[in-house]
Parts: sequence; structure tokens; C-alpha cells
Amino acid sequence: MPRALAARWYSDHDQYQNERRVIWGSEWLMFGVTAELSRPGHYVADEIAGYPLLVVVDPQGELRGFHNVCPHRAGVIQWPGCGQTGNLVCRYHGWAFSWDGSLKSARDFGDSPTPDDHSLRPIRVETWGPLVFVNLDENAPALASTLGSLDTAVRQHAFTDFAYGRRLVRTLECNWKTYVDNYLEGYHVPLLHPLLNSAVDMKTYSVEVPDDTYCIHRAGQVEGSASAGVWVFRYPNLAINVYSDGMNVERIVPLSSTRTAVVYDYFAQDVSEEKIQSMVEMSNITLDEDQTIAELVQRNLDAGVYEAGPLSPRHENALAWFQGRIRQSTGAR
Ligand code: FES
Ligand SMILES: [Fe+2]
Repeated sequence: MPRALAARWYSDHDQYQNERRVIWGSEWLMFGVTAELSRPGHYVADEIAGYPLLVVVDPQGELRGFHNVCPHRAGVIQWPGCGQTGNLVCRYHGWAFSWDGSLKSARDFGDSPTPDDHSLRPIRVETWGPLVFVNLDENAPALASTLGSLDTAVRQHAFTDFAYGRRLVRTLECNWKTYVDNYLEGYHVPLLHPLLNSAVDMKTYSVEVPDDTYCIHRAGQVEGSASAGVWVFRYPNLAINVYSDGMNVERIVPLSSTRTAVVYDYFAQDVSEEKIQSMVEMSNITLDEDQTIAELVQRNLDAGVYEAGPLSPRHENALAWFQGRIRQSTGAR
């Protein structure tokens, strides 16, 4: 019988540093939405697992990505946030870079440094439907080649037809894996989510793992339920909850070994204030319940009285898969 990851892997500093390198430094990560990177000059400067990143649309309309770290003395090329820019100029001492990242000029420096030695470090950027992904590994395979059957699975549910509505961010006092573990099973639904439980036929609830990159929740829906749809998790940081008239996309962002931000982007057919507000309120009920348990579980993992429990073969198969990937890439037990 598979066992859960041992408690220490949910707070250990060395484990977190290892995950930064072998997971967050090498996988395709959801970074944002195309709606905020649609015109030349649009940029987003954000951090994932301690990597400050910059994605910008160049004058030709191409997405470019860099570590938001200047080669001079580690200044920032853009302040964290999003907006419009006409160039790549470091905010600290004003070194200017071409759109390919090479150094154009080192402001008032004296003898100029060799441009080749002082470029911005590029990252890969690609899109899938309305979502923008980055990969810090320059040699990673193309995003499309890693999507497998996930692409078909979500496109059946109008994934690309919705307009962008609103973003909400939650900061959770737990390790990122504690949040993901909770997302990966419906075992807790009857106890923690009374409203969701009344909308879903839990006797038919199952989670399948079609390949090594994602899992998909399936359940018979109570007729007329607003929850009818599909929920998927793609390793390591993306969850998509698609309903008949909208979707909520979750981006999981480790802030440290014990803190995690979850960014929720809401899309809908009808993005009126009223519609988006009702989607947000509806999902907040479930998200509040999940946040409460994830933070309490984290405290219990840290208490020193729990080691590693058994995983239900009926309900927790996706945890076995997810934790298997963590073990495989990091050596955790
Ligand atoms: S740190 Fe960027 S110009 Fe100095
Ligand atoms: Fe939940």
C-alpha cells in the first residue's frame, strides 16, 4: 500500500532548495494569462519559488522571458508587478539591454564591459490557450509536446472560449505540496465541503491519472448543478476548474518552504461584474474550507507526532502519483 510523503519533506529547508532546482527550475510552469501580455510593451514581473522572472512582449509582438536579475549587481529590470514598457533598462544603475537580452549600453560606466559577458539570462515562454507558461531550462522540450491528452480533455470544455474576468490571490501558511495534496483527492469532500457535496454524486467520484503530467477529477453531477464540469491538475503548479459557463484557473506559487501563494484567475462567457462576483463568491466557499484544513494539516505535519500515513487506493491514487514524482525528482521518502 502506498504511503504518504513523510512529514519532514513539507518543511525541510534543504528539500525546498532541492525542489527549486529540480522541479521549479526545470518544469513548464504556469506564469500568467495572455490577457495581461497581449500588446507590445506589456510586461509581468513576478516570482516563482524564489526565481524573479520577467516576461515582456517585444515590439514585434513576440513573448520574451528573462530572469529579472541584472548582470551588473543584481538589480531589477522591472519592478515587481505588471504594466507597459518601451525598453529593458535596469532600475538600479540604468544598464540597457536589447530585446534578445544582450547588453546595449552600460550607462556612464567608464570602460565598457564586453556585451557578450553581460546579457540578461533568458527563460523560455510559451502559451497554451489563454495561459502563459515559462520554463527556466533552456533545453526543455516544447510545451505543446508535453501536454499529451490534457489538451483534448480541457478543450472539450470550452477552455479557450471564455473571456478574462478577475484575479484573486490567497497566501497560505503551508508548504505548496500540502495545498496540492488536498487538491488531488475528493475523499474529503463529504466532510469539508457540504455545498459542493450536495452538487456532486460522490458515489461516482474518481480521480484518474491519464499520464505522468496530469490528473483529472470525474463525478456524476446532480442535475442543473453549477458545479458540472471538469477539474484537472497539471504537474507541478496548475489546476483548472472548468464549468459550463466559466472557469477558475489556479496557479500554485511557493513563497518559501512553509508559505504558498495561490493565484486564482476567473474566466467566463459573461464577464459582467455581477457574473464574476457570483463565481468568486461560490468558489470562495470551497477555497476557504480548503485553506483552513491545509493550514491546520501543515501545523500538524510540523508538530512532530505524525510520520507518514497510508494512502487510500480508492481515493488517493493521484496523491500516490504526485508524491511519486516528488520522490523521483528529489529523493524524498
Ligand atoms: S544592477 Fe543593473 S545596472 Fe546596476
Ligand atoms: Fe477541497
